[in-house]
Amino acid sequence: MGRVIAMRVDDTQKIGVAGAGTMGSGIAQIFARKGYEVVVTDIDEEHLQRSAELVDIFNSSLIEEGIMLPEEAEEVRGLISYSTDNQVFSDADLIIEAIIEKMEIKQDFWREIEAIARRDAFFATNTSGLSINGICEKVENKGRFIGMHFWNPPHIIPLVELTKADETSDETVEELKKLMTIIDKEAVVVHKDAPGFIGNRLQFAVFREALHIVDEGIATFEDVDKAMKYGPGFRYPIIGPLQTADLGGLDTFYYISDYLFEELSDMKEPPVMLQKMMNAGRLGVKSRKGFWDYSGGKHEQAIKTRDKMLFEMLKHIHPEQKTGR
Ligand SMILES: NC(=O)c1ccc[n+]([C@@H]2O[C@H](COP(=O)([O-])OP(=O)(O)OC[C@H]3O[C@@H](n4cnc5c(N)ncnc54)[C@H](O)[C@@H]3O)[C@@H](O)[C@H]2O)c1
Repeated sequence: MGRVIAMRVDDTQKIGVAGAGTMGSGIAQIFARKGYEVVVTDIDEEHLQRSAELVDIFNSSLIEEGIMLPEEAEEVRGLISYSTDNQVFSDADLIIEAIIEKMEIKQDFWREIEAIARRDAFFATNTSGLSINGICEKVENKGRFIGMHFWNPPHIIPLVELTKADETSDETVEELKKLMTIIDKEAVVVHKDAPGFIGNRLQFAVFREALHIVDEGIATFEDVDKAMKYGPGFRYPIIGPLQTADLGGLDTFYYISDYLFEELSDMKEPPVMLQKMMNAGRLGVKSRKGFWDYSGGKHEQAIKTRDKMLFEMLKHIHPEQKTGR
């Protein structure tokens, strides 16, 4: 267990965010919305300017959805400041790193930050999948260090995965769990530094089987997406996969597992089909063709529809979010 640290979230006032990209900008917006002072740093001045624009875009979509008042957006803007100098983190209570997904760069970043930051500040990395133990390798006080995985788009998706490194203290986990509640996020604790944490392990288990079904000609890709949306996926926002089994009957789920598990994909590599699609430039929305067709403006519609429905769901999950703190 790492050394105990003194900081408590009740005293938290200032949040440092490193990396002013997609995730860092969203994370800054989330904390500022709850009244925290936020300092955002980046190595690139232009990215800092773009980040401020991104925060405005996130705010306007929340206003459009009736989840935020226009005057709140002004406050959010006023609470976030930007710098290319990491010294601004010297009095931060929590520093969240959302910089490029490269192990060595993250390790060097944290070594530099430990020399700047307060001795009792919490340190969190938003890595998608790199080892948390690896990222904090050069940090001396590892008790304060944690994985804090926000999902994209961070201002909408409620989940945050808090991943313990070997030496992360229980106090760090407990305090940051409390903080996640304050910012209206739903925290889960990942007890082992396991690749994919929880969310991506589940997501990619489904992805592997979905590819397998299409590859084997069991069903079309359209029907795979439809089956998930109107079947298991329809239930998932309400009850997770284990509670689904509870409600279905664990004996029944056992009997089904007994004959079905051996039929399911245990592919260790992505199927050739997926590689062929990539080689043909079918990358999804960004190239206007993936499994589905996104030409002629359909890509924008797909993103808009997704976000609209996600906001609707968010209003059900967190009804108190509808305008105001
Ligand atoms: N994009 C996603 O869907 C997503 C979701 C969850 C987690 N993440 C993780 O969040 C982190 C950031 O991802 P992103 O999508 O926001 O990336 P991004 O490319 O949009 O932004 C990264 C920013 O970090 C800056 N940067 C690079 N090196 C830096 C350094 N040494 N110090 C300060 N700033 C530096 C870059 O200039 C850039 O502005 C990554 O670890 C990524 O794996 C991404």
